Amino acid sequence: MPNTLAEINSLDRGAFTAALGHLFEHSPWVAEETWPQRPFRDVTQLQAALCATMRGAPRERQLALIRAHPDLAGRLAQQNKLTLESTREQASAGLNQLSAEELAGFQKLNAAYLGRFGFPFIICARLSNKSAILAAMQARIGNSAEGELATALGEIEKIAQLRLNDLLKPK
Ligand code: GUN
Repeated sequence: MPNTLAEINSLDRGAFTAALGHLFEHSPWVAEETWPQRPFRDVTQLQAALCATMRGAPRERQLALIRAHPDLAGRLAQQNKLTLESTREQASAGLNQLSAEELAGFQKLNAAYLGRFGFPFIICARLSNKSAILAAMQARIGNSAEGELATALGEIEKIAQLRLNDLLKPK
């Protein structure tokens, strides 16, 4: 995997998409459609360009991106069927160590949130922890769908930024 900006700037469309496709969950189109803008001057510009691609996509595509995220402490997590990144993100918030009661609480709120908005609850798990996530779920479920869509995209940008930082970390 490339781990410098110079290497990333030198990749062809397919290799660029392979290297950065995972930054947006199950949505390599974000990287692919950003590729023509290279070379990127710095990592900030690369991240901004990726986010602009996401923001410029049609609403249906943004919704599909949001819906590509697994529930926090959801069924896929219980079955160990998450992507590597998602597994790490959920673990970093302590969601892999919930009591049966806590798990039931998450599942109830996940279902209520999905039922209300038609997309899963998105928060950047690595910048949070289980009690803050539960509190945010309870608070945000009262918001408008428009507001939650905007919040979800903002959280997805934070998730992508941290994944990009990981990619570029000296190994
Ligand atoms: N669903 C809600 N939050 C997150 C997150 O931080 N990472 C992933 N992969 N899925 C989520």
